[in-house]
Amino acid sequence: MVVETVVVALWAMLPAYVPNNAAVLLGGGAPIDGGRTWRGRRLLGDGKTWRGTAIGTVVGVALALALNAVQPTLVALVGFGLPVFPLAVAVALAFGAMLGDILASFLKRRTGRKRGAAFPVLDQLDFVVVALLLATLVAPAWVFEVFTLPRVVVVLVATPLLHLTTNAGAYVLGLKEEPY
Ligand code: CTP
Ligand code: MG
Repeated sequence: MVVETVVVALWAMLPAYVPNNAAVLLGGGAPIDGGRTWRGRRLLGDGKTWRGTAIGTVVGVALALALNAVQPTLVALVGFGLPVFPLAVAVALAFGAMLGDILASFLKRRTGRKRGAAFPVLDQLDFVVVALLLATLVAPAWVFEVFTLPRVVVVLVATPLLHLTTNAGAYVLGLKEEPY
């Protein structure tokens, strides 16, 4: 069933979707790279902060635990199974999302892109790829059971769309500097 595939895929990715938004809203402060440069360019830039990374991770884990709490009710409601997040998976998805975004900034700086510059495709998928990699590392059986091929396809198609619409929304609301 298409609806089930989409709902399960997005549900399972939610703990990786929310951390970046939380970082945009509540981040800021001292940059992770401490202002350090490499070959004349910032290592990561002022947009990657300790506070944003920590808050994003905590919010993602908290969301996974909240989803676990409402899972039985929702399963009864929708009539199909929804995955429960083991703590290690919750941490891997949330921290992996932040790490993916940090690695993307590292690549952006190496390719001469200033803070806030767009890097299409990388911007939209960095966090899902690293979140899934990290989750696979800590709980391979869980990932292979939950992320069947059709669901991975849903994630790869839906994530850029969700990312672009939430970022455009955040831009319109004045919460984000750029609409991407
Ligand atoms: N943010 C943060 N810590 C992070 C990620 C994001 O504090 N680990 C906050 C920063 O205030 C950042 C904003 O969220 O400016 C937007 O995030 P993002 O678009 O990822 O960063 P940019 O400022 O656009 O920088 P970059 O070019 O490196 O992506
Ligand atoms: Mg940006």
